[in-house]
Amino acid sequence: MTLKIKSLNQYKKAYKKSVKDPEGFWAEQAATFKWKKKWRKTLQWEFKSPDVKWFVGGKLNITENCLDRHLKTRGDQVALIWEPNDPSQAYKEYTYKELHTEVCRFANVLKANNIKKGDRVCFYMPMVAELAIGVLACARIGAIHSVVFAGFSANALADRIKDATCKMVICSDFNARGAKNIPVKAVVDDALKMRCKSIETVLVHRNTGEKVKMKKGRDKWLHEELEGKRKTCKAEVMDSEDPLFILYTSGSTGKPKGVVHTCGGYMVYTSFSFKNVFQYEDGDVYWCTADIGWITGHSYIIYGPLLSGATTIMSEGVPTYPDAGRFWHICEKHKVNQFYTAPTAIRALMAKGDHWPTHYDLNNLKVLGTVGEPINEEAWNWYYDKIGKGKTPIVDTWWQTETGGIMISGMGDIHPLKATHAGFPLPGIQPCLVTPDGEEIKGNDVEGLLCVKFPWPSMIRTTYGDHERCRQVYFSAFEDMYFTGDGARRDENGMYRIIGRVDDVINVSGHRMGTAEVENAVNEHSNVVESAVVGYPHHIKGEGIYAYVITDGMVKDENKFRKEVLAVVTKEIGPIAKPDKIQLVSGLPKTRSGKIMRRILRKIASGDTSNLGDISTLLNPEVVEEVKKGAKVLLSNE
Ligand code: WT7
Repeated sequence: MTLKIKSLNQYKKAYKKSVKDPEGFWAEQAATFKWKKKWRKTLQWEFKSPDVKWFVGGKLNITENCLDRHLKTRGDQVALIWEPNDPSQAYKEYTYKELHTEVCRFANVLKANNIKKGDRVCFYMPMVAELAIGVLACARIGAIHSVVFAGFSANALADRIKDATCKMVICSDFNARGAKNIPVKAVVDDALKMRCKSIETVLVHRNTGEKVKMKKGRDKWLHEELEGKRKTCKAEVMDSEDPLFILYTSGSTGKPKGVVHTCGGYMVYTSFSFKNVFQYEDGDVYWCTADIGWITGHSYIIYGPLLSGATTIMSEGVPTYPDAGRFWHICEKHKVNQFYTAPTAIRALMAKGDHWPTHYDLNNLKVLGTVGEPINEEAWNWYYDKIGKGKTPIVDTWWQTETGGIMISGMGDIHPLKATHAGFPLPGIQPCLVTPDGEEIKGNDVEGLLCVKFPWPSMIRTTYGDHERCRQVYFSAFEDMYFTGDGARRDENGMYRIIGRVDDVINVSGHRMGTAEVENAVNEHSNVVESAVVGYPHHIKGEGIYAYVITDGMVKDENKFRKEVLAVVTKEIGPIAKPDKIQLVSGLPKTRSGKIMRRILRKIASGDTSNLGDISTLLNPEVVEEVKKGAKVLLSNE
């Protein structure tokens, strides 16, 4: 049995052991899984290259651990509940037996379409059950899944398909989202016009049933392909360190990078963290509202819960459709015990009024979780009082796409609760705070850059096709440490509080974005000469996107221009990257060496122009006044 920590004392003991003897600690956890061949070495590592390997030489298939392993003990238990966008439509349930069958049939479709171990398969799908099934089907045959969030544009999709040289795209016809049906297949068609030469097949899942174009020889209907497929499929033998999936995420420079996670360590850590953070007990019903297009969906809708034999819910809809009571309605309907969502959703629902949750029975809730961005005190309190009725612990889980699993967090009600604090590291996780010079800051009541100084099983192994980039971004800032990009505080009791990114990454509604990426998109507009994008505090989104733009002077109608910029960004990246504010400026504050002074721009965008520091050394100090004035006007139009 996986270690299930039940008290503070037990946590302290486990933590100590995990630091003193990490290999012994993780070997014990790994031993609870089904291996085809045992590993010969638990850990081999150095952070210089980096080169990290867990459970070296071990052979396994993660889907045997998610599915087959449970068939005897809980074959008839519900594994997956799919809750549709439209509440009047019936929900679907899959028992472990049924899910096993569906995954095998889907895996046989992949095989019949020439997908082999190591091939990359791209998913561009809404939150339909077939997405979870398809992802597991890839893992079954050793194909590497690369899920692209269905809110990304054709351009962004094409970039990701090309970067991973995917052989197949799996999509739906349309995405049923709130009151609208949004085209999905049509976006894939557009993406594939952009020289995605590696794609051989497009599998199309019929979701809403609306008409889509099918290209002969390339496009196939999933339901037709599934016809007559066998209900079993041998699980491919995978090495612990064979890639399981690629997931793209944004950094401060360049295009999004494909974070690579591998089979063995990811399996051990997602299951361990799931059980402990959520204090999942047999028979509980667990719901994570994330989209499978992000890491939260991978680790804590699919893998972590299924590895743990849990009942996991995935929901297609949005929090406010048909009304702001939808989340709580689903919690009541399925008697949800653990609920996991993002601060941005909490803030959006909070703004709709306190009465919504009161209409529903939320008494089954035992643990409430939050993830993706810092949670402000007001939202924390609302969640605690109105949803948890002042008695349900909140776990504020800090982690990243790169970490694969939750790193710093409460575990049910084991740790003391402190609003806005993620809390203590999970066993096996060795965070530290460092100065910009890389000096470790010891002791408590301190603040610094958040790093991790020892490997953990689910950590990033490489960035797909570019290992040097992985080294450069995460392992070159400080010697022998993984650098997270976040700043953090450790309070007098050793609890961590995440302050936010210290690089040029912004977090908009829990979606991570590189400011450079947005700038590149804005610059695609023919009248834009130069732009600078920064984040600014936004009451619902956490951070909003603020774009300062220098135009060529040919813009006659500013509002029309702003709309065009939004359209360009939507085309280049997707609607999630649309700037909330666009300010036309004649210049951007720059240093003598020509570097944009983002610090000043961030401050102005936050509405605080009190103390901008010494601007006399700027190349163009005169522009600051103008920028300040314009921002004041723009920000007062909230
Ligand atoms: C960044 C990672 C991990 C799943 C979702 C986001 C921020 C994440 C928290 C939290 C404060 C948080 C960090 C981190 N973040 N969780 N509980 N408190 N900040 O994954 O897209 O890879 O983004 O999200 O800044 O670096 P991601």
